[in-house]
Amino acid sequence: MELLQMKFMREYTKITKDAALKGWHERNGGNISYRLKEEEAVAIRDFVNEESEYTAIGVTVENLASEYFLLTGSGKFIRNVALSQEENVGIIKIDEKGENYKIVWGLINGAKPTSELASHLMSHSVKKRKTNDKYRVIMHSHTTNLIALTFVLPLDGKVFTRELWEMATECPVVFPDGIGVVPWMVPGGAEIGKETSNLMEEHDVVIWAHHGTFCSGETMDLTFGLMDTVEKSAEILVKVLAMGGKKQTITADNFRDLAEGFNVILPEKFLYEK
Ligand code: 13P
Ligand code: ZN
Repeated sequence: MELLQMKFMREYTKITKDAALKGWHERNGGNISYRLKEEEAVAIRDFVNEESEYTAIGVTVENLASEYFLLTGSGKFIRNVALSQEENVGIIKIDEKGENYKIVWGLINGAKPTSELASHLMSHSVKKRKTNDKYRVIMHSHTTNLIALTFVLPLDGKVFTRELWEMATECPVVFPDGIGVVPWMVPGGAEIGKETSNLMEEHDVVIWAHHGTFCSGETMDLTFGLMDTVEKSAEILVKVLAMGGKKQTITADNFRDLAEGFNVILPEKFLYEK
């Protein structure tokens, strides 16, 4: 089967299209990476060029040694991925030390992996370890309403979690581990990658103040769905605030009942007294 016909490639293309339609990816905003399964790495063998040169990642991700990632190119528009995958996305391979990468497919005409490579790979590294190899997707989107909230809510993960949980009953079930918040930082390097991946130890959602959101998950659907759920909740909160604020809400005790009914653990630190 041709590489472009493979399921992971078709799913990836669908997600980029859906995410662009959501309005989360103006211009080259945002980037998405997927860690290939072993059988996918075998299936692409006839289509990749392993002769390319290695480039330093800038960080060390030992547990990702020899892994393959499908990811967006730096400066590439997510809305154009479906138009030409080879120009806008690529597959990279990590060396056996976890220090360098090489492009083995796509990113033609001198394109490079996303400038947020460090944040992606360091987050993959944490999630691979924490989830016993299950999580494969990291998605960074410029989610309008979540960004707007970083101008009015305190930049505290506990507050973001609680306020967004309150906006839709199913939110705590979709992201029971809550949200982490990175204060404003210069994007595109190891430093913000470190902060992001530290928060990924505990959360599947990390917001970058005044910039965007990182989500992680097992599959592309689950990761997209998580981004969609959190951003929708933020949209409701923006509307509620614009209408003059809450007059009633879901209480901490309501959440405790929900946790019991849905058999999820909701950490008490998010259920603080207000
Ligand atoms: P890239 O085009 O390098 O992926 O950067 C886009 C972005 O969102 C930076 O945070
Ligand atoms: Zn960004």
